Amino acid sequence: MIKHPHQIAVTGPETAPAQLTDKAAVTEHIAPAPRISVQAFCETVETANVVETAHQDRRLAKTHLKVQRGGIITAVEVFRNSPTPNVIILEAGDRAESVIAGLDQLAEVCDAGTRVIVLGHFNDVTFYRDLTRRGVNDYLIAPVGTIDVVRAICRLFSASDAQPVGRIIAVIGAKGGVGASTVAHNVAWATARDLALDSVVTDLDLAFGTAGLDYNQDPPQGIADALSSQDRLDSAFIDRLLSKCSDQLSLLAAPATLERVYDFGADAFDAILDTLRASTPCVILDVPHQWSGWIKQLLVSADDILVVAGPDLASLRNAKNLVDMLRNARPNDNRPYYCLNQVGVPKRAEIAPADFAKALEDPPMAVIPFDPQLFSTAANNGQMIAEVSAKHKTAEMFLHLAQILVGRTEAKRVRRGRLMPLVSKLMKRAG
Ligand SMILES: Nc1ncnc2c1ncn2[C@@H]1O[C@H](COP(=O)(O)OP(=O)(O)OP(=O)(O)O)[C@@H](O)[C@H]1O
Ligand SMILES: [Mg+2]
Repeated sequence: MIKHPHQIAVTGPETAPAQLTDKAAVTEHIAPAPRISVQAFCETVETANVVETAHQDRRLAKTHLKVQRGGIITAVEVFRNSPTPNVIILEAGDRAESVIAGLDQLAEVCDAGTRVIVLGHFNDVTFYRDLTRRGVNDYLIAPVGTIDVVRAICRLFSASDAQPVGRIIAVIGAKGGVGASTVAHNVAWATARDLALDSVVTDLDLAFGTAGLDYNQDPPQGIADALSSQDRLDSAFIDRLLSKCSDQLSLLAAPATLERVYDFGADAFDAILDTLRASTPCVILDVPHQWSGWIKQLLVSADDILVVAGPDLASLRNAKNLVDMLRNARPNDNRPYYCLNQVGVPKRAEIAPADFAKALEDPPMAVIPFDPQLFSTAANNGQMIAEVSAKHKTAEMFLHLAQILVGRTEAKRVRRGRLMPLVSKLMKRAG
């Protein structure tokens, strides 16, 4: 997250031995970091060790942290072909000019929302200014102590002006049974595995939700417990309700029983989503195909929306109504995206993607073929499409959808200048 020039934080060199600094930190309150991914590029073994040790700190218990040798140039090479994490830590070499040149190259490959911490050796105002201009969020002067690294990561997310870490992506079907849940679950899975962003799928179809089945999970707790304990909601409470589907993917499952009926108020999920958003980079909502106050509010307040439609007239009409309504209600946001699913059923008369594009004034983000063998195998085994067939074109489509929805582009664009805001502007489409 880029900061205004005067806001760049500079932590001075440690004069006290590491032990003393750590003791001082005992009395200091550092809010724990959310479930983020961090990648550190260290020039020296010493710094790499410090960052590794920092990862053992309780406040970084939820973070995924990877340390690599090599500085900014290595980072540029790595991120040319892979998405950037939530935070990049860079140990700068001893030549200021090459540090600045390296940051300029990094800006070209850096994804929206990635925050950058530089560890360096210069205590020089021109250098700080150059870093600030390039959107670096924090600068720590080497040698750094363990707690300095912990503090720098945590405060990126705890400052009063820090943006909430998570994006909320709502997925809804234009019609019942068009595969909205299947798309939501596969997109979340790709986000966690291929984009390495921690994700939580929230199954909002309380009576009939299939996320538990699709991920082969049978959790005793889930969203119903969160709804009935609104007064106790915090990250720790929600964490206990999540079931882990893979390294970086968790599920807030629906009870999928008929013992209770649910008639929600419009803001029933606000507190749960605020709590999730504060700790998880990507929250995917599996929204049932219904229309009520709470569903409308969820869609209007989401960061991005994906409407899943089938190639039929009812889907076309409903998708158009949804997209139009949401564009009106969210004039300053991305348009709702949509994709077509179950396309190409033999002998079925279908409406062409081009006709959808015309009516919705936007091409579909993906046209997913009808493939009963592949999808039923996945559904019956509690697997994702990429687990059934890794190289299948449909699996690639889910990854492509994930990249667009979370703002991680595959083909890195060439950009100059600041690391972050430019990128987010590029990602915003005309409303
Ligand atoms: N592209 C596809 N090809 C073949 N079958 C598919 C495809 N996409 C989804 N399906 C199957 O369609 C069925 C309905 O999918 P899903 O439950 O995801 O739909 P939904 O829109 O969430 O339904 P609901 O309205 O009940 O929430 C599932 O059995 C799923 O495996
Ligand atoms: Mg569904």
